Amino acid sequence: MRKALVAVDGSEYSKYAVEYVADVLDKEKWEVVVLHVIPSLAELGLESVAPPALIEQLLQELRENAKKIVDEAVEYFKKRGFKAEGVVKEGHVGKTIVETAKDLDVDLIAMGTRGLSGLKALILGSVARYVVNHAHCPVLVVRRKGGK
Ligand SMILES: Nc1ncnc2c1ncn2[C@@H]1O[C@H](COP(=O)(O)OP(=O)(O)O)[C@@H](O)[C@H]1O
Ligand SMILES: [Mg+2]
Repeated sequence: MRKALVAVDGSEYSKYAVEYVADVLDKEKWEVVVLHVIPSLAELGLESVAPPALIEQLLQELRENAKKIVDEAVEYFKKRGFKAEGVVKEGHVGKTIVETAKDLDVDLIAMGTRGLSGLKALILGSVARYVVNHAHCPVLVVRRKGGK
């Protein structure tokens, strides 16, 4: 079996990528790992500014949210007949996606063109750009047909 890593952030873009991957990959030949990365505090711009109790609460919410996002995509792939598992990690988002893909020796990374940031001026989101530039394997960046 080949392995695809599908990176999800809960955005409409990543949901579309999940559906697209389920449409185009052969479930007899591919298994799926769904990954969500909880951004590091440094990436969130929170390092050493917010009170520890607040950070702890925020992290807990992010972890619960991460599990929901990942579970939803895993269930979707299973419903579509794929062997699928979920992974949640914390760290620099782009780096962690690339490293996990390497560690798991995946054959493909799939993701949306954009995500949650809402920076509509960007053609490619920053995480998508990082992964395209650093991945060890092919990257499928799913743009909505006719969309931005
Ligand atoms: N924290 C994350 N964990 C896993 N995948 C992510 C994460 N953030 C973004 N992605 C993936 O990267 C795609 C592009 O998002 P991104 O580059 O962050 O765009 P934006 O800058 O608009 O947020 C998303 O559709 C999703 O597939
Ligand atoms: Mg983003």
